Amino acid sequence: MKTLSVDHLLGIKYLTAEDIHLIFETATQFKEVINRPIKKVPSLRDITIANLFFENSTRTKLSFELAQKRLSADVINFSAGQSSVQKGETLVDTVNNILAMKVDMIVMRHPYPGAAHFLSQQVNACIINAGDGTHEHPTQALLDAFSLKEKLGELEGKRIAIIGDILHSRVALSNIYALKMLGAEVRLCAPKSLLPKHIESLGVMVSTDLMSTLNWCDAANMLRVQNERMELNYFPSIREYSQYYGLTLERLKQLRKEILILHPGPINRGVEITSAVADSPHSIILDQVENGVAIRMAVIYLLASKLIIPTT
Ligand code: CP
Repeated sequence: MKTLSVDHLLGIKYLTAEDIHLIFETATQFKEVINRPIKKVPSLRDITIANLFFENSTRTKLSFELAQKRLSADVINFSAGQSSVQKGETLVDTVNNILAMKVDMIVMRHPYPGAAHFLSQQVNACIINAGDGTHEHPTQALLDAFSLKEKLGELEGKRIAIIGDILHSRVALSNIYALKMLGAEVRLCAPKSLLPKHIESLGVMVSTDLMSTLNWCDAANMLRVQNERMELNYFPSIREYSQYYGLTLERLKQLRKEILILHPGPINRGVEITSAVADSPHSIILDQVENGVAIRMAVIYLLASKLIIPTT
């Protein structure tokens, strides 16, 4: 059996192109399974997984839980807001107590960049990063690239734009790593204040011009303006942001070609994307959500296969 080169999924940065292809091959098989009348396989009957969410989530949390249940794993869920973290318990103590209940794998979302990496060095369990602050969101990038590949074929040479609040986005960084690894050309588009300094060093192009970026790309991944991570004003007003960087149907109609539209969610309708675009045939937003379950099944299955000691 082919295996991943890593024992944890901490970020796309730590994967190889072969790892991504293996995750996609496995996800393709699981996508077929979850579209059957019986959507479950018994693969992980002996595995227990804890989902630790220290930050809000809809898609990632539900998608991981569903993926685990489709694989027949035992699942426990932890939300920091209702836990003893509120009484001052540390992250490592919290996780070691959960692991003492014979849990094999931890899926964690945390507001601090590097939290998943830190945890992987402190505890004896497989860790999956479900988003760490503004750093990485590896399963989101995997499901984005998988959804693009389904629609565009192999991503080698394809032109993918990432548009919006790049500065605060873990989705942007993980997408850049994944898309570059798969041979795509990547262009970032945002107001200068929302572009990290020296981001070109990752081998991406940078633009502040929305229409030229849309005319250049085969697909545009529209990112949310992350007001909750902004301590400063990065642009004069939301109205002005959407005037220059909001994706409208009128703008799409001015293009010389059809392009695909992605969005990781949650959407700020009328800010970075209008409802008319989000709900249009250009949009593959709900395909991304569907593929998220298959991708997470693949990641969990492949990492769990490294935990199970074969009986000879
Ligand atoms: N895409 C994403 O991470 O969405 P949630 O914050 O709802 O999980």
